[in-house]
Amino acid sequence: MNTVAAPQEGAIRVALLGCGTVGGEVARLLTEQAGELAARAGVPVELAGIAVRRPDKHPELPPELLTADAEKLVTSDEVDVVVELVGGIEPVRGWLLAALKAGKSVVTANKALLAEHSADLFEAADAAGADLYFEAAVAGAIPLLRPLRESLAGDRITRVMGIVNGTTNYILSAMDSSGAGYAETLDEASRLGYAEADPTADVDGYDAASKAAILASLAFHTRVTASDVHREGIADVTAADLGAARILGRTVKLLAICERVTDDDGVESVSARVHPVMIPRSHQLAGVGGAFNAVYVEADAAGELMFYGQGAGGAPTASAVLGDLVAVARNRVVGGRGPRESAHAALPVRPMGQTPTRYHVSLSVADRAGVLAQVAQAFADHGVSIAAVRQSDVGDRASLVVVTHQAPDAALESTVDEISRLDVVHEVVSVMRVEGEDQ
Ligand code: NDP
Ligand code: HSE
Repeated sequence: MNTVAAPQEGAIRVALLGCGTVGGEVARLLTEQAGELAARAGVPVELAGIAVRRPDKHPELPPELLTADAEKLVTSDEVDVVVELVGGIEPVRGWLLAALKAGKSVVTANKALLAEHSADLFEAADAAGADLYFEAAVAGAIPLLRPLRESLAGDRITRVMGIVNGTTNYILSAMDSSGAGYAETLDEASRLGYAEADPTADVDGYDAASKAAILASLAFHTRVTASDVHREGIADVTAADLGAARILGRTVKLLAICERVTDDDGVESVSARVHPVMIPRSHQLAGVGGAFNAVYVEADAAGELMFYGQGAGGAPTASAVLGDLVAVARNRVVGGRGPRESAHAALPVRPMGQTPTRYHVSLSVADRAGVLAQVAQAFADHGVSIAAVRQSDVGDRASLVVVTHQAPDAALESTVDEISRLDVVHEVVSVMRVEGEDQ
């Protein structure tokens, strides 16, 4: 890697925290494309220091730039911008607050931190007149947060729905095409390097929930944290679920769904959730395979928009980080700032139980008179309207598939609970929420 010999006059000086998968690519591109970046930013952009946990493990980096003391680096007089690519909440939160307080702008890809503490970070940025950019925190290379923060700032967004976790999308795509179960597919994904050694944050939906919190906050001008997001992972998705979906021309995806919900009295709230969903194979999100991400945005004036691309990986994520860095540099050149936090709407967050959803329920039932009536009665007792019923005979049993209209999620859950206790029901084979069809 070429090193920067001495600070250039007027250059924007960057402290890079973390030089792993993403940070390594940022360092490489910052150096290899220094001339291009300077031309685009209107000023040279240089590395002033790189903080890593184990400097001795980085012979590829210029030793004079390396340090293990991120805390000291972020407030150095030599630094204008801090690019944080370490991850996790502490000690990173403290470093970034200190950096902002010292007037440094911050670029980060840290969704876990932003999903919990963006309000504090924005407040610190405002107090110091600094920038806070985080395009890479959701959907890697895909320009998605800038469109929400800027391009759609004049519109009224009603829904953001998409695939924001590549690991789970890879696993579900593989289960769909092979017919294999969850555990063996996860093992295969780990062996091939698509899932991390500890895949918990991905498969249990924490990563997607953090991203949903960030998307909902930006889309609805409301502070939404990860703990406001209803979260279910993919560990309970079975080969039977995918089989049931296939029979009906559907597939299963882990979706982040952020919606503006208006109740009967016209009161608006925000719903944010992450869970497995059955969608028609004809839906654009169904065709998103492997580790790719795709996000659907609906807005009153713009209509439907779709964003698609690589949601992870060193170089793709570095692309988004460098875009932010150029934006910060441009702002500094003209003496302005990028967009601040926009949380003026402060809408309440609707609990999952009150969120309107639709269910697909696949049952194995006794094949005799009155069974369908009992099942239908359970739905009616909970105020849930049935949209479609499909029955096929399997020996002395029948396979019954019920797809509902929209109802509060809690009503659907209680219905399934009651049905599972009916004598005529042998087994609840699959229960999954449905999206992407008429309500
Ligand atoms: P890595 O684990 O590859 O790299 C982390 C880096 O942080 C390493 O260089 C590590 O040092 C350094 N580090 C860890 N602890 C400290 C510490 N206490 N002080 C100084 N440095 C430290 O992470 P990624 O590059 O994958 O991810 C970075 C961020 O980007 C995360 O927030 C992640 O969520 C986000 N992100 C990642 C994507 C991806 O595809 N990987 C996609 C989108 C976002 P050392 O090298 O010495 O161990
Ligand atoms: N673990 C994440 C994923 C990386 O699988 O999508 C990108 O945030």
